[in-house]
Amino acid sequence: MATPPARALVAPSILAADFADLDGDCRDVLDAGADLLHVDIMDGHFVPNLSIGPAVCGAVRRACPGAFLDVHLMVTDPDMFVDPFVDAGADLISFHVEVREGMPCRDLIKRIRDKGVKTGIVLNPPTAAERVMPYVDLVDLVLVMSVNPGFGGQAFIPEVLDKARMIKPALRADQRLEIDGGVSPENAQQVRDAGFDVLVAGSAVFGLARGARGEAIDRIAGPTTSPVSS
Ligand code: DX5
Ligand code: ZN
Repeated sequence: MATPPARALVAPSILAADFADLDGDCRDVLDAGADLLHVDIMDGHFVPNLSIGPAVCGAVRRACPGAFLDVHLMVTDPDMFVDPFVDAGADLISFHVEVREGMPCRDLIKRIRDKGVKTGIVLNPPTAAERVMPYVDLVDLVLVMSVNPGFGGQAFIPEVLDKARMIKPALRADQRLEIDGGVSPENAQQVRDAGFDVLVAGSAVFGLARGARGEAIDRIAGPTTSPVSS
């Protein structure tokens, strides 16, 4: 019998959560089947918006001690924020390749890894997949943006799916390919079929009433077993 395809991991972005009840909302999506929590950090410089900082990330860590916190730094100076987010309980820290123009990525990847935290490298929709290829061996995860970062609730850019054709074959079985922006139950199969195995979803999960989130998470994750029986 062929090995059944693994279910994709679903990472609700807390950017779309109810900040007045972040504790309750985070615990709700984890109870509803979310695999990790995606924590979007914006500095008002690399992207035209501000979100949250290490203090809020630390509050999520205390509210959800067992959750995997996937911290996505949309900041011009990621070096500045490694230690604060490690201290705030990040399990993975990803940074954008676009902010490392003329600077090596290797030293930053090593710094994050040396803290005992997993690492990710991110590329924006206009950035060619070639830009991250020198680093894919060194990271735990490659994150392909499917919107221009800065805001939740934007329309998915399907052209970015093509990047998986170059990146996915270069990844080992222990590495992940994540996508972020505009993912929904309606486009999730197309995204999974392209090779992505961690799907970030903000408004498509937190935007729903609490009772409806489990079904959305299941549809984004896809089937757990092969539809073809043995
Ligand atoms: C965009 C963020 C995304 C975003 C996802 O700058 O990195 O994580 O919050 O939200 P949706 O799923 O609503 O596009
Ligand atoms: Zn994100």
